[in-house]
Amino acid sequence: MKRVVQALLVIGVAAVSSIVFATAGPETINLKEKFNVQGNKAAVIFPHHKHQEKLACTKCHPTDTGGPLKVEIKKTKGFGNDFHKQFCWPCHVEMKVPKGKSCGTCHK
Ligand code: HEC
Ligand code: HEC
Ligand code: HEC
Repeated sequence: MKRVVQALLVIGVAAVSSIVFATAGPETINLKEKFNVQGNKAAVIFPHHKHQEKLACTKCHPTDTGGPLKVEIKKTKGFGNDFHKQFCWPCHVEMKVPKGKSCGTCHK
């Protein structure tokens, strides 16, 4: 009996963690590709799971399961794009991320 209970527990834990993974989205996201950004800067590979370790989903998404971004990215071209102005930079400044606005942190 004890073994059966243990086995069921293992299955239960596996099922729950696979649901969490299924909704957590990709580990990294190529934003240049995803948003079809035109330009010569090296593509930004966004470390998605690394951000999830530090922040609640709702810092960036409307709900705990992800979905669209809370900030609507309209302008993607040039230095004054909405990633810099509305999304990545304001939070990096607010949270005092080391080198959070240095080009090489995001454009490798
Ligand atoms: C620091 C910001 C940030 C946090 C925190 C964050 N995400 Fe995301 N997430 C993004 C960005 C940026 C994208 C890519 C843009 C897009 O898909 O619109 C994305 C995309 C996604 C996608 C869609 C992927 C696809 O292929 O369409 C899912 C699902 C997702 N996130 C789930 C989550 C969940 C669940 C959490 C919390 C555990 C979370 N995210 C936390 C920024 C974040
Ligand atoms: C809501 C807050 C928030 C937003 C929005 C956000 N970041 Fe961050 N970011 C952080 C924090 C906090 C860290 C520090 C993580 C740590 O200490 O490991 C970080 C760290 C990073 C790092 C360094 C990771 C490493 O390896 O140390 C990169 C690269 C990065 N962010 C890219 C981005 C990009 C690109 C965007 C926009 C698409 C973005 N971030 C949006 C909060 C944010
Ligand atoms: C916190 C992350 C982050 C930092 C720091 C950052 N950028 Fe960006 N940048 C992005 C994202 C995200 C995009 C849009 C996606 C992409 O182009 O891959 C972008 C796009 C751009 C673009 C438009 C696309 C292109 O290829 O021309 C330029 C220009 C640019 N950045 C220049 C810079 C310069 C110069 C710096 C340093 C002063 C810098 N960025 C620092 C995240 C960052």
